Parts: sequence; C-alpha cells; structure tokens
Amino acid sequence: ANQGACPFRGTRIGGAAGSEPQLDHWWPNRLKVEILHQNPVQASPLGPNHDYAEAIKDLDVEALKADVRALLHSSKEWWPSDYGHYGPQMVRMAWHSAGTYRIADGRGGSAEGMQRFAPINSWWDNGNTDKSRRLLLPIKQKYGAKLSWADLMMLAGTIALEDMGLPIQGFAFGRVDAWEADRATYWGPEDWNGKRPSEVGQGPMEGHPNQMVTRDLRWEGDVQEDHYDLEAPLANANQALIYVDPEGPNGNGNAQDSARDIRETFARMAMNDEETVALIAGGHAFGKSHGMVSAEEIGPAPEGAPLQAQGLGWQNPRGLGFAQYTMTNGIEGSWTPDPTMWDNSYLENLFKYEWKQVKSPAGAVQWTPEDPDAPKTPDAHIEGQMNPLMMMTSDLALKVDPEYRKICERFLSDFDYFTEAFSKAWHKLIHRDLGPTSRWLGPQIGGTFIWQDPTPEADYPQVSDTDIASLKEACLATGVPPRELIATAWASASTYRDTDKRGGANGARIRLAPQKDWAVNNPAQLSRVLEALEGVKAEFDAKGAAKVSMADLIVLAGCAGVEAAAKAAGYEIDVPFVAGRTDASEEWTDAESFNWLLPVVDGFRNYQHPGIRYQIPAEHLFLDQAAKLALTAPEWAALAGGLRALDQNYDGSDTGIFTERKGQLTNDYFRTLVSMDYAWHPQEGEQMFDIRPRSGEGKSYTASRCDLIFGSNSELRQLAEYYAADDGEAYLVRDFVKAWHKVMTLDRFDAAEERRKV
Ligand code: HEM
Repeated sequence: ANQGACPFRGTRIGGAAGSEPQLDHWWPNRLKVEILHQNPVQASPLGPNHDYAEAIKDLDVEALKADVRALLHSSKEWWPSDYGHYGPQMVRMAWHSAGTYRIADGRGGSAEGMQRFAPINSWWDNGNTDKSRRLLLPIKQKYGAKLSWADLMMLAGTIALEDMGLPIQGFAFGRVDAWEADRATYWGPEDWNGKRPSEVGQGPMEGHPNQMVTRDLRWEGDVQEDHYDLEAPLANANQALIYVDPEGPNGNGNAQDSARDIRETFARMAMNDEETVALIAGGHAFGKSHGMVSAEEIGPAPEGAPLQAQGLGWQNPRGLGFAQYTMTNGIEGSWTPDPTMWDNSYLENLFKYEWKQVKSPAGAVQWTPEDPDAPKTPDAHIEGQMNPLMMMTSDLALKVDPEYRKICERFLSDFDYFTEAFSKAWHKLIHRDLGPTSRWLGPQIGGTFIWQDPTPEADYPQVSDTDIASLKEACLATGVPPRELIATAWASASTYRDTDKRGGANGARIRLAPQKDWAVNNPAQLSRVLEALEGVKAEFDAKGAAKVSMADLIVLAGCAGVEAAAKAAGYEIDVPFVAGRTDASEEWTDAESFNWLLPVVDGFRNYQHPGIRYQIPAEHLFLDQAAKLALTAPEWAALAGGLRALDQNYDGSDTGIFTERKGQLTNDYFRTLVSMDYAWHPQEGEQMFDIRPRSGEGKSYTASRCDLIFGSNSELRQLAEYYAADDGEAYLVRDFVKAWHKVMTLDRFDAAEERRKV
C-alpha cells in the first residue's frame, strides 16, 4: 500500500543544523570556550600556507592606487556618486571600520575587515557602507588574494583624502582578512530597538540610536553631573553606533552633552582632544549627510535583508531610492560649500555663524545658519540647486566645549597646522591595530610614531647557541629562584594582546613605567630579578661583540627557570628560545597608553584588579585574557595548571596551589582539581573556595573562581581530566612548554620564520 509514497518519515522539517535553541539559549551565562577557536584555518579558502606578506610583494601598488582614483571619479547607475566623487563615502566607510577600535581590550578596528560581517555590517551607523564596499568589489576582484578587503577599505579612504587635497603620512598594508563573523567582542548590553537580537533586521528603524531607550545600561551617572562613566571595555555611546549619536545623547540636541560623550568615547579610541577635533573637523570637511526619507520606510539592514538583496541592506522605496533620495543616517545636508575639497570652511562656518535647530526631511535634529546670507552648498545631484549648510549637534559640540573650542581656534588660525594634525590623526586611526612596524607592509610606510610602541633595531651580533646555554646557566647562578625568573618572563610576555598586537616581551617595557609598578607584577620581586639580570647582561656584553638585550635575557631566564622546574619533577627538557628582541626606551613609550594593557583579571597569576567593580564573574575575564593571548583551550589549560604548579601567584599566595611540591612542573593541580577525594565549599561571596578532603584527613586548599572553572565547565573539565591522567603529566610538560614558547614569541613578527620552525 505504501508503494510510491515518500520514503521519509516526518515530512515537516522544522530545524536544520545549528537552529535555535542551542546551548546559549538554555544557558546564556555559560563560559563560551569556543571563542578561543574562532576564525579557524578551515574557514578560509586560502589554506594554512597562505602568507599575506609574501602575496603582497606581487601587488602593483601604483596600479592599484590608480584604479582606486579612477573609481572615485566615476559614478555607477546603481549608486550614483554625490558631486561626482565617491571620496567622502569611502572616507566614512574607512573611518567606521577603523573607528570601532577600542583601547581597553584592543578589539574592533580595521585590521580584519570586520565591517563585512554581522553585527557591524548591520549597525544603523553603518548605513550604506555596504554600497561603498560593493563599489570596491571590481578592484578587489582584480587583485584577488594579493589584497585583503581590510587593506582595500583603508586604502580607499586614504586615497580619497589624498585625492581631495589632504597630504597623507603614508600607508601600510598588512591587514589580514577574517573569514567569519567575530563572536567574541562584547558590544554592550542593550538590545536594538528593544528587540532581541534575533528579531533585529526584520523591520524599519533597526538599531536606530534614538530608539535605544536602554542606552543607560552602559552609561552610569548623568551627563550633567560629575560622575559620568561608560561601562568597560565599551567605547561607543550606544550599540550600533561607531561613536556618538550625532543628534546628541538620546537625540536630545544638546551640544554640551554631546561634547562629553565625544570626549569619553574618543579617549577610549586612544585619541586625545586635539586628535579628536582634528578627526571630526577634518572628516566633516567632506561629503554630506543623507536624510531625505523617514527611517520608518527603510528596509532591513544587510544581515536581515531578503535573499534577493544579495547582501545589500537599507532598501529605500522612495523615488530612485538613491542619489537625491538617499537616506542613510537621517540628517540632511553638507557642512561646506565645496564638499570634495580639503579646506578650512567647516570650521570657518561653524564659528562664523549662529546655528538654529531644525528638523531634516527624515525628522532628525540638525542645525542650520541663522543668517540667511550664509554661504550655500550645491546639491549633490540636482544641477543648479543650492542648499543651506548643515551642522550636527555633535559638530556644535566642538564650538561649545571650552577645550575643543581652543583647539578649533588654533586650527582656524593655522590651516597648515590643522592639516598636519588631521593627517597624523588619520594615520593613527587606520594603523592603530596593525601592530609593530614589522607587520607593516608595502612601499609607503611613513614615519615612526610613539603610538606604534616602537622598538629599536639591533646593531650588534646576536647570541649563539653556546651563548644561550651559558647565559641560562648564568641566570640560574644569580641565586634568583627559578620561580622568580619564570614570573618575570611571564609578566613581560603576557601583556601581549592579539586583538591589536600590542604588548609582549619585545622592548622589555616591563623595566619601564607603568608596567614595573603594577601590583600584578609584584614590583619588589620584579626589581630584584631585573637587577640580577642586568648584572648577567653587563658581564656578557663586556665579553665580546655579541650582545644580549634585556628583553631577550628576561625570556631566556624564564626558559631556564622552566627547564629547572621540569627537571625537579623528573623531566629533562629544552625550552626553545628565539633571540633578537631589543630594548625600548622610556622616551619611546607612551606610559598612559600602556596602562590599558594592565589586566583587570589575570587568572594565570590569580590576580584581580582591586579598583574595578566586576559585573561578570572572574572566569569570564580569564577566558577573555586567554583569547587576547590567542590561546587554544588546551594551551589555556596547560598554562594555567602549569603556572599553578610553578607557584606563580602574583603575591606568592597559596590560592590554587594544589601541591606539596611547589615549583615543580607536575600535574598535581589537575589531579587535585578533578579528584572526588575532595569537596568544594564556597567562602562568602563565592569568589574563593575551600577544598577539603572528604575523609577529614590530609591537606586542605583554597581556590579562586579561575581555578574551579577548569573542573566545573564541562569542556574545560575534559582537558583537566586529560592532564590529570597517569600519563597526563608528560603531556602537560610537553604542552606547557609549547604554549609557553608560543606566549614568549607572540609578538615576534620580526622572526615569524624562526618562530614557525621551532
Ligand atoms: C558623515 C556623524 C566623526 C567622516 C557623517 C554622517 C553622520 C556623521 C551622521 C552622515 C551619514 C549619512 O547620512 O550619510 C559623525 C559623528 C562623529 C563623526 C557623530 C563623531 C563625533 C567623523 C570622523 C570622520 C568622519 C572622525 C573621519 C575622519 C565623515 C564623512 C562623512 C561623514 C567623510 C560624509 C560621508 C558621505 O558624504 O557619504 N558623519 N561623524 N566623521 N562623516 Fe562623520
């Protein structure tokens, strides 16, 4: 009877692989260990051996620049250029990509081209940047794998500025594309438009800042009061904005309030007041804002758009849907009479005229000159039509804030000074997260700036293998215990952040303020060890032509310490070492900027910054730390368990030191942690725990949240059990050494080849 019927049982398909609900829906606060394995090599069609630095050598940079210039002066029917020049929209697209950078955790920024992916591609503030990227597609296709999207986006903005008359400081390639969305970055607590993220993108006004009634979730205090704080590590005023609401906080049209938001958010992008004014006044010398149609009429952002939109969002049903009908942010008009020319008319007009509040055709708050005789600006598309100038509330902020005003006055009286200030601030903006100069590629790199965290070139022969062996002995012979040698090397290298490639052992900035004074580095112990190592260095350097830098010696001493600790546990090992680091000077160290590398939680050393009010559990910040160190989950576990065995708590405390053999590289930590011979008791507040033998006999221990997570999280527990096995200690020693070496060389972009070989 069933002959010919569908062979399937269940003829309604309700969910495909990955459909909700998944783990996060059932346990939203679970530790997301998988963020350590993001953007895997399998996600990229380029394969594991693609070397962008090599590929780019074949790039014809001059031809590429000429292609970009030709595009800038063209106009495509599907998205005609304003004023016949795509420059301004390319500048905005590039700024919005780089401007997501935040110094607190180094995340965001231009380096991986994340504007191509959700959620950033769909932020309200990124309206129509999809068109700018699509306009660049033919150029991307022409140069293929020799040119990353991330580089092309920054280059397009920079060539645009140059083409419109701004002298540039140079340009470095070297941004390597990601091939999947970033799932690690925390962009803030608010929903978009009061909706769950899964509902976003299905209707109009998605992510519009004025709809974010929940803005106050990230802000504390009041703009009018003294206490005014933005939750760390955030650096934008609302979800889905690059920095601040152009209409003022919550669209309140108050320029003074806007100035406070601007100062706070730009400082978190690592920009001081002068750089901030230069960027805003410089950027708004170009182009226009678009607000011809109510936001209610606009279609969903790219990620929520239908298949037939092919990745383009914000479909506009009015008129042509573009050109003179364009709707992007909602504010309408241009700041200057010549919006494709670098000149000082933005500031001149801002200061010369009084501005009155009006509404754009889309209903947004904006400002127009009170004086009817103020200069006009040509329409971007309608020949012969002249429009009034426009300012945003955030532009008026530069006039009403006393500090910003002083800077504007200087820029007004000295256009050359302003030009240089903008050009330099742009250079910093787009290269901020590219890392040390050894990662900068291409023919036109430009000068050296302090924000690049420069290290000098070595002008002496490097140590030989024999030197390395004798230096290790000399370090151990200083009388400094291996524990302290290890601590110093770890403190030096573990400041590295893969998010913006800052920090690390190169430069030996551990000798300098502010790092030498951080409590997590145990300053008294640190200065003792450094003094001893200075002695070893002096003796070695005096012997012959080869020299050893303190940066190298600190790492080498740590390696010697690890070897000694492994030996004490019965393992003869050789910890790899790659020489070539140099020592940075105080003069070339921006102490304030380095302060951002201070860990708020360092689970490897059982440290929690006392001045912070933690709203999330310490283990989540420990995971964040592991992610910033680019560790895999097994590397994270091996380092955590190994460093506990090696007695590496910053203050020498016994928290998490589950062993009778402190300082030996054993797997005792994991054995105790997974053992059912113990029971775990929270102390008040559940920050610390007591681990007591169930039998009542034997040693008890204390532990932190960063310890117990390896036994409690179901994925980390598998790793803990692996290392706790009878054969696990040998694996732990092997994996610890590999992970140690990885951390020591994370910042050695100058020695990528050697690093790979080891
Ligand atoms: C356009 C806001 C800083 C460069 C715009 C638009 C808004 C805006 C609302 C109009 C978007 C549209 O509807 O098309 C802000 C705010 C800033 C800021 C609130 C900070 C307080 C900057 C910076 C730069 C920049 C730092 C570059 C250095 C531009 C350019 C345009 C633009 C070139 C014109 C785009 C076009 O013509 O299509 N900005 N901006 N802005 N912005 Fe900004």
